[in-house]
Amino acid sequence: MRKYQQLVLLVISCLSVGILLMYKTENNRLKYVLKYVNFFGRNDAAVLRRLENGTKDDLPQAAMWRPLPVWQMIGDSFHAYSAFWIRNELVAGGEAHVLVVGKKGAVVDFRCSLDLLNGRSVQGKFRFQRDSSEPPVDDKLSNFTSYHFFCQVSRDFGQPGSVSFTDITSTKVPVKLRLRSIKPKTQGKESKVSANQSRLPATICVDLVGFNSTSRFARNENAILQFFLFHQALGIDHFLVYNYDDLPEEVIRVLDRTNIHLVGLPFNFPFQQTNGTVSRVRQLIHNDCLLRNVNQAGFTLLLQPNELFFPNSRFTADGTKGSVQQQLRHFSSETTRFELATMSVCYDENGKFLPDNSQYDPERRAPYKLLLNRLELPPSQLLASTGEVELALSAAFVHRYVDCDHVGRDGLHDWRNGVRQDFMEHINGLRNEVHLLI
Ligand SMILES: *[C@@H]1O[C@H](CO)[C@@H](O)[C@H](O)[C@H]1NC(C)=O
Ligand SMILES: *[C@@H]1O[C@H](CO)[C@@H](O)[C@H](O)[C@H]1NC(C)=O
Ligand SMILES: *[C@@H]1O[C@H](CO)[C@@H](O)[C@H](O)[C@H]1NC(C)=O
Ligand SMILES: *[C@@H]1O[C@H](CO)[C@@H](O)[C@H](O)[C@H]1NC(C)=O
Ligand SMILES: *[C@@H]1O[C@H](CO)[C@@H](O)[C@H](O)[C@H]1NC(C)=O
Repeated sequence: MRKYQQLVLLVISCLSVGILLMYKTENNRLKYVLKYVNFFGRNDAAVLRRLENGTKDDLPQAAMWRPLPVWQMIGDSFHAYSAFWIRNELVAGGEAHVLVVGKKGAVVDFRCSLDLLNGRSVQGKFRFQRDSSEPPVDDKLSNFTSYHFFCQVSRDFGQPGSVSFTDITSTKVPVKLRLRSIKPKTQGKESKVSANQSRLPATICVDLVGFNSTSRFARNENAILQFFLFHQALGIDHFLVYNYDDLPEEVIRVLDRTNIHLVGLPFNFPFQQTNGTVSRVRQLIHNDCLLRNVNQAGFTLLLQPNELFFPNSRFTADGTKGSVQQQLRHFSSETTRFELATMSVCYDENGKFLPDNSQYDPERRAPYKLLLNRLELPPSQLLASTGEVELALSAAFVHRYVDCDHVGRDGLHDWRNGVRQDFMEHINGLRNEVHLLI
């Protein structure tokens, strides 16, 4: 009898523990729900859209990294990063376009062939040109020269999977590079519609190669996180991160829980990087960024994590006002580059949100132009394009967060004084959205 009572007591205590645990998890779940109800209470459509779909959908863009670019040797003196197949638009044939650096002064003499997916290999015509960023006269600042290598064919043999280069002056061993295929813009009206439906409004290429990793900004993970969240609030979800290994682990971990897509790309640059090579290395990344985004996005821009892009509206139309795309469509289609005014804003690590940094140094100039690129031209003309306009400050600008240890003679100014009220409200709206997330 006693044993029976003991058993009953045991069962009852087990039940109570079970019920306790159940209530605890229910309570947690309730808290979670309440947190989201708070968002609903704000009725903030942009935030909702991002929270409802917590899982990452695998769009075709997921393959933006394929084939993975990587610096590999072709011959004794040259390295190639990425290779693109660009079929001709109106006539038969096409060409492989390869981003290459070579030792300064090395003789360029190659043979090339295209390896078709059906197993055949066809001889191509090799040609090359120096990148437009190369100075006309050889300078002493660097040991390398940037080139574009091309391998052309003038007939339609089928889709090539890779291109091979043989350095005739040295090894004479062919090196195979996988091709990323860029489809030409189709002429038909129907296919055009479906094409822009599947395109992303915009992407950002993130330059961690030139990024100053000893600045105060770089040592603050919260600031780097905000770089991604602010651009996401604008409607940009896809980031191509060059030298991805330098992105802090903690930032990746947090972003993994959001709808942000990070495309990690290596950048094992084979030459020594010095002051004099900064702009050329940036140009290389810019070229890869443009070619990689063709047919994937409407716009792209190359930023370092301490550069925040502020257009006066979002990329995705939110009803009240024209989106960035709609505003920029007013420019002729030849205009493919929009130069953005850049302010050097003093970064204070105690300010919680980036737009709260209000002082800028008007005398401190950015070392390079920041461009918003429209990706509508045929890929073969994309890199050579010169159609460039300066965007008005009332349309967009970039804040570049810097350490203000040496301030110019003119002193610091408050950037908010020059910004119209509706633009300021828009920036505050973005700030509040990011505030909800961190
Ligand atoms: C979530 O995403 C799926 C697929 O993209 C879509 O069909 C669905 O409508 C989305 N849900 C919400 C609530 O937006
Ligand atoms: C270029 O290479 C030479 C030797 O190959 C080296 O002595 C020199 O320091 C290098 N210069 C730069 C700027 O990297
Ligand atoms: C596709 O883009 C064109 C302009 O380039 C626009 O007129 C058309 O409405 C767009 N179609 C869709 C479905 O968004
Ligand atoms: C990087 O930032 C540190 C700290 O602000 C500064 O001292 C250094 O000059 C910067 N380096 C470059 C190359 O700008
Ligand atoms: C590189 O730049 C830094 C700061 O901009 C400067 O102090 C240094 O002297 C430069 N080095 C060379 C080799 O020009």
